[in-house]
Amino acid sequence: MNPMTQEVTAARRRPRSRRRPRVSQPPPPQQPVPPREPPESPPATAREVAATPERPRRRRRGRRRPVTEARPPEAEPALPGVRFAHPSEAEFARILDFYGLQWQYEPRTFPLRWEHGQVTEAFTPDFYLPDLNLYLEVTTLRSGLASDKNRKIRLVQELYPEVNIKLLKKRDLLRLLTKYGYGPLAPEEVPDVDRILISTPRLQQRVAELGSQISRDYAGKEPVLVGILRGVLCFMADLIRHITLPVTMDLMAVSTYEGDAAGSVKILKDLDENLKGRDVLLVEDIVDTGMTLHHVLDYLWSKKPASLKVCTLLDKRARRLIEVDIAYTGFEIPDEFVVGYGLDFRQRYRNLPFIAVLKHELLP
Ligand code: IMP
Ligand code: MG
Repeated sequence: MNPMTQEVTAARRRPRSRRRPRVSQPPPPQQPVPPREPPESPPATAREVAATPERPRRRRRGRRRPVTEARPPEAEPALPGVRFAHPSEAEFARILDFYGLQWQYEPRTFPLRWEHGQVTEAFTPDFYLPDLNLYLEVTTLRSGLASDKNRKIRLVQELYPEVNIKLLKKRDLLRLLTKYGYGPLAPEEVPDVDRILISTPRLQQRVAELGSQISRDYAGKEPVLVGILRGVLCFMADLIRHITLPVTMDLMAVSTYEGDAAGSVKILKDLDENLKGRDVLLVEDIVDTGMTLHHVLDYLWSKKPASLKVCTLLDKRARRLIEVDIAYTGFEIPDEFVVGYGLDFRQRYRNLPFIAVLKHELLP
């Protein structure tokens, strides 16, 4: 099964977060803005335009990613597959997927010219990127077509000044994604990475939300955040900056099973703070089987805190062996090995600013 099909299947089975409907909804209502020089006839509506023969209508939507922010589930309709008019569009979609950016394929048509109440010319950009509120027209190198597209894009900008639209080549797209924080690395520069699962902007937004939620829940208290080294480094550093209460922090390191481990989890670096009577928030990068967390929680309870809760950036729930109570979850992710934003594969890739899926063939 190819990875795309696999992901769509996973997405359909998963509960939908409140933010995600943005992916499948058409962009904001389309009110054609009157041209500066009034047309001979009033502008047609987008629906009338859709019936014009200028270009075959394909209202397809970008696939959804299986990552969900930990929010209440809603019903989810099945999605149709996407048929691209041109191979370069399919490649663009793969790049957008690689960078974890949501997209819709040809969701809107812009009327450009009217005669006797009929639309005589219209333009349908290839992609809409809801995260960036940006329409993209993909171009290959053939200059004749590019100049016609350029003319149409200029017209769209003139007639619909509120619309953000760009004509792009592949190279320009990679540069644009870097600018918006969906990089910074081109796919070929991260050879072990299959695709980006959670982009930098999504990580940052979610970490900020968790920080606000924790600040509200612990109002009037002075919690101590306990992080487990080393994977938690990036998450914890960002999270504490979104907590608007007096907080203290401490760090622990524990051994993980490496194939030959005799006995159980060992504490490699102990706490420096006294947790007795404190409100403790244990911060984790990822909860997988739950074994590490289970062991660490036992240890922390033995320190007699007033309260003890868990905050994890990632939850690989499908692999859980020991049930643990998690108060705050950043993202539920599928059963994939992920790296970046503190998480490693053989100590590498902790410095990636996003969460990426490691290529399957690298895993034992
Ligand atoms: P657990 O004890 O199975 O829940 O494992 C938790 C620990 O395993 C995490 O704190 C990570 O250090 C590591 N881990 C689990 N899954 C991943 C992954 O996908 N990427 C990197 N490290 C992981
Ligand atoms: Mg860890």
